[in-house]
Amino acid sequence: MESLLIKGGVPLHGEVQISGAKNAVLPIMAATLLTAEPCVIRRVPNLSDVRFMGQILEWLGARVEFKGDEVHVQSAKIKGHADYEIVRKMRGSICIMGPLLARLRKTAVSLPGGCVIGARPINLHLKGLAALGARITIEKGYVQAVTRKLVGAPMFLGGRAGSTVLGTANVMMAASLAEGVTLIESAACEPEVVDLARFLNAMGARITGAGSPTITVTGVKALHGAEHEVIPDRIEAATFAIAAAATNGEVSLRGARPEHLHAVLDKLEEAGVDIQRRASSLIVRRKARLKPVDVTTLPYSGFPTDVQAQLMALLTLAPGISIITERIFESRFMHVSELARLGADIEIEGPSAIVKGGRRLSGAPVMASDLRASAALVIAGLAARGTTQVNRVYHLDRGYEDIDAKLRKLGARIQRIEE
Ligand code: EPZ
Repeated sequence: MESLLIKGGVPLHGEVQISGAKNAVLPIMAATLLTAEPCVIRRVPNLSDVRFMGQILEWLGARVEFKGDEVHVQSAKIKGHADYEIVRKMRGSICIMGPLLARLRKTAVSLPGGCVIGARPINLHLKGLAALGARITIEKGYVQAVTRKLVGAPMFLGGRAGSTVLGTANVMMAASLAEGVTLIESAACEPEVVDLARFLNAMGARITGAGSPTITVTGVKALHGAEHEVIPDRIEAATFAIAAAATNGEVSLRGARPEHLHAVLDKLEEAGVDIQRRASSLIVRRKARLKPVDVTTLPYSGFPTDVQAQLMALLTLAPGISIITERIFESRFMHVSELARLGADIEIEGPSAIVKGGRRLSGAPVMASDLRASAALVIAGLAARGTTQVNRVYHLDRGYEDIDAKLRKLGARIQRIEE
């Protein structure tokens, strides 16, 4: 098992290239199941989750070829069954359900089960697919969805924590081949949903309203192959911006899209970080002493839950009290106890973490638990005095392309070791 060994205290300087967005490319790869024709997806990040989605598509019968930062997929003949072993490993694979149902009129996908950040139910996915006419049953841990034909319908996809990103993706993909018009109210507005809609429209779908809470899909008879370049990863960009601020450095984020990062940039500026917007990059540096801030995670365009842990790592350095409230997932504070091992003073009160910041962190061995919590530990290790060893780095490799190489290029003293 691999770990990252970090000697902290070095300000990061230089330029980092932001990779394609993991949470855009996964549903877009699933969307290639909607046609028997070849598709080409560009700016595909080299991540274990992406390679795994490729294996899932192959397992379903598609031909998948990774060529540099492109993936070529053709789902000429496919089957509709995805077993627990597959879905359990990566919850994001649940977004194959909509395309399989639309293409084959029936599918059996294992219930994904929960993960460390929460129960991760799929009731809203099933509500949307049932609204399109699918008969849904749950047997032996599998969701069986069958339909004679999918018919467009109005639906409301809001849940206890607002909209659902992959639920919106699943329904949008299924509705693309339904007969008639589908209206999705309380749709997710994330840029990754917009990117998926762009890809589906390039395949011949008729989708309007993506990026707003109301998406309209006018079904078509068939979809054809398409080529598409994936948007840059706003969560990776936010992670490197926070690492620059935490180490008191200055970093240029090449390819970052400020229009996808309003809430994050606003909060960082409030915390005393200077952000310069350039034509095709963002330049981030700490302007003055860090200031404490309060933040609540919300559906887009609110502050993203996927940046909550990373911001917390930064706020442990800001003298004063910061309050971070997590409103999307029920247990996304796994990083708190590990940050405490580095000397952070954080108390959890229900959905909020109260960060008493300002003390210098000191390096220690810590354990990664999920993708974004691991990123928070790397950021804290970069800022801490002394050496930090982040164990179970496979969590990081799921969502960050070559993160240690990218950080080394910015001057960080970080190396990957075999534990
Ligand atoms: C996507 O997950 C992302 N993953 C997550 O990123 C991200 O944290 C999340 O959206 C929220 O932004 C991918 O895109 C692959 P949701 P998703 O359905 O779609 C509840 C990362 O680190 N809910 O928007 O699975 C759910 O429990 C990952 O890259 C229901 O109640 O998340 C949660 O509280 C982690 N019923 C909230 O909605 C449902 O049917 C948001 O979940 C579906 C969701």
